[in-house]
Amino acid sequence: MGGQLSIPFNRPSFEGNEQIYIARAIANGHISGDGQFTKLCHTLLERILNVPKALLTTSCTHALEMSALLLGMQPGDEVIVPSFTFVSTVNAFVLHGFRPVFIDVRPDTLNMDELQLERLITPRTRAIVCVHYAGVGCEMDTIMEIADRHGIPVIEDNSHGLFARYKGKYLGTFGCLATQSFHETKNFTCGEGGALLINAPQYIERAEIIREKGTNRSRFFRGQVDKYTWVDVGSSYLPSDILAAFLYAQLEARDQIESKRRRIWEYYYANLDGWAKEHGVRLPIIPDHCNQAYHMFYLLLPSLEERQALIANLKARGIMAVFHYLPLHFSPMGQRFGGRPGDCLITEHVSDRLLRLPFYNNLTEDEQERVVAAVKEFRGVALG
Ligand SMILES: Cc1ncc(COP(=O)(O)O)c(C=O)c1O
Repeated sequence: MGGQLSIPFNRPSFEGNEQIYIARAIANGHISGDGQFTKLCHTLLERILNVPKALLTTSCTHALEMSALLLGMQPGDEVIVPSFTFVSTVNAFVLHGFRPVFIDVRPDTLNMDELQLERLITPRTRAIVCVHYAGVGCEMDTIMEIADRHGIPVIEDNSHGLFARYKGKYLGTFGCLATQSFHETKNFTCGEGGALLINAPQYIERAEIIREKGTNRSRFFRGQVDKYTWVDVGSSYLPSDILAAFLYAQLEARDQIESKRRRIWEYYYANLDGWAKEHGVRLPIIPDHCNQAYHMFYLLLPSLEERQALIANLKARGIMAVFHYLPLHFSPMGQRFGGRPGDCLITEHVSDRLLRLPFYNNLTEDEQERVVAAVKEFRGVALG
């Protein structure tokens, strides 16, 4: 490493008033959920995205679980989900009794292949969950048209794509429900956190109850009932106002965060494009009608061996690159639902070959120069 500092895959950063707002939350004497900063985050998300209701949650996983509870479920109900996603996208629904039906992804954006949707719909299909991978919009026109025609609710797992747009409209505003993640690796973070965006107003009241342990506490605080009590099932999905304070500072700094991340993404693209073409490596594809979130930068290597060798090579130079996702359809859990290798061929192929480069708000151009040089230096298994 020649004494050079290592370059992590991710590094959280202060972007503005995080520390001031945390101190203010403590001075307010309200550090449990739904304090001043939680409300400020709700209002900001509702105003910018123009959604009827935003509710902070303890994670995107929990926002997905709330979605499953809100939809309700009869034994045997099915949910169509991509196999190429994080475990939570599907586990949240399985936890509440749904049976997953895995759909493959498109080879370009790695989003749900909308052309396969119709043939996977059965009389038992109760929900379609799409993931805007890397903060690039799924083909929402087609997905919504098919879902509406069959009367099936769509939930957007938008953990990568806050403030990104599809044909000018914000991701997270298409489905009846959408979920956000504020985990440390996301564009806007508070360490661990999430949000449920509610576009179909009929879910609002019950969502508030589910989020508050199955009680009508939110109505009580609004003075709509004179005592609160247990009215439904639920859990504790409220983050502390300390986390909301951190998050609010990040959301306020959204233009600054976006411009930093755009610069990083464009630097990688500009400096790796020629090399990639020469060596059969594919870079991200962003359709013209999508404004992406600049969430991540990935390479698709020609083979698993080359991907693994490049990760090891970068690591030897102190540069942390990672891969994801393992196909869910033939994970041990996926197999319990009948998933087999060969069911989602693009997912299987991509999962072996994808590599994510270090990407965080304060990644410097010097660091990126080192990453790019190390990638280009790689004389891997077959790259030559
Ligand atoms: C597509 C997707 N969905 C859901 C999650 C879960 O988010 P959280 O860690 O906030 O629960 C992740 C996390 O990386 C993700 O990538």
